[in-house]
Amino acid sequence: IVRGFSSSAVRNVVIKNVTIIGGGQMGAGIAQVAASTGHSVTLVDTSDDILKKSIKLIEGSLKRVAKKKFSDKPEAGEEFIKKIVQKVSTSTDAESAVQGSDLVVEAIVENLKIKQDLFSRLDKLAPSHTIFASNTSSLSICDIASSTNRQDRFGGLHFFNPVAMMKLVEVIGTPATSQDTLDSLLDFSKVLGKTPVSCKDTSGFIVNRLLVPCMMEAIRLYERGVCTCCFYSSFKHPSSFSPIPLTLLIFCFSNLSGDASKEDIDIGMKLGAGYPMGPFELADYVGLDIVKAVIEAFKTKDPKNPLFDSSDLLNKLVAEGKLGIKTGEGFYKHK
Ligand code: CAA
Ligand code: NAD
Repeated sequence: IVRGFSSSAVRNVVIKNVTIIGGGQMGAGIAQVAASTGHSVTLVDTSDDILKKSIKLIEGSLKRVAKKKFSDKPEAGEEFIKKIVQKVSTSTDAESAVQGSDLVVEAIVENLKIKQDLFSRLDKLAPSHTIFASNTSSLSICDIASSTNRQDRFGGLHFFNPVAMMKLVEVIGTPATSQDTLDSLLDFSKVLGKTPVSCKDTSGFIVNRLLVPCMMEAIRLYERGVCTCCFYSSFKHPSSFSPIPLTLLIFCFSNLSGDASKEDIDIGMKLGAGYPMGPFELADYVGLDIVKAVIEAFKTKDPKNPLFDSSDLLNKLVAEGKLGIKTGEGFYKHK
């Protein structure tokens, strides 16, 4: 880690070499923004075939950026893409990849045991200055970090999908995370061109704690028929009243004549609440496996909270491998 000062006198910790473990939609996105901002990136996944797809994802996203940035100079756009992709090397060997790394960002499957196993292995091989960060959507950073001996150099770095477009990064510290580590993660997020917010290590941090129960409420609304269930749920569990389900409740009043389709609920939330995507569109975009894993993680930590109840429909779609856009079908069919 090289410490320096930016011209605006804001302390700037420069993390040069970044290893990203997991080359799915999030890992590829994080690799893209890290490479675009001058970092040397090593992207790790379990097979070369997956890594080829990760590079395709990065190229696809960069094409969209280049199309705007170099609208009248397509050759310059090609060059721009090539230069950024060159900053990303790939590997199937996580242990070797972390050895020259200042920061390791993990974006693998949302499973505590698998994340702990990974970090426990990497902890033995990464240099002592290397900071570890998880992009988990819902798991406790403290629980993940407990598998290592570097809990002071461990934090959460939670990006949003699509990483290239979403400006927010949640930076999560545990009671053991050092201030230097937090500062480095906050500075790194700013260098990526993102706006970081500091969060405590609580279920879902800020955004997912609000967003995912809203998505689940939309799914249950659709599953159970609009009116009766919504009133039933709210009267049975008055604690479940919160601003976001209330938005859906207001939507219920405008649909007293019948059940809401997924499409109606999506239109409702886009045109009535100003969301860029409706909850079913967003669930398909995020991945239904992720949504299911998130709500299950919340339930594990707070079993009595009805906001964290599961959904039979969601469970069925995941069991059928209908995970959303990434598998071609979720709540909707995708070409
Ligand atoms: N890479 C690069 N550029 C992209 C892109 C990508 N992956 N996706 C979209 N864009 C760009 C497009 O090129 C387009 O640019 P211009 O307008 O300048 O031409 C712009 O974004 C808009 O794209 P579209 O016209 O295709 O579609 P849109 O207007 O619907 O925007 C969107 C797409 C930005 C994804 C928008 O729909 C959106 O913000 N959706 C909500 C996303 C969201 O809520 N994400 C958070 C999910 S929760 C999460 O991530 C946390 C978790 O742990 C689960
Ligand atoms: P994904 O399924 O698209 O990608 C996960 C990748 O990790 C896969 O390519 C898989 O092969 C790889 N992987 C699994 N185990 C591995 C291991 N042991 N070593 C190396 N690679 C491994 O998932 P995603 O949507 O990118 O989510 C990844 C993480 O980011 C999850 O923790 C998720 O909760 C979180 N997250 C997801 C979103 C989202 O919108 N999808 C947003 C923010 C955070």
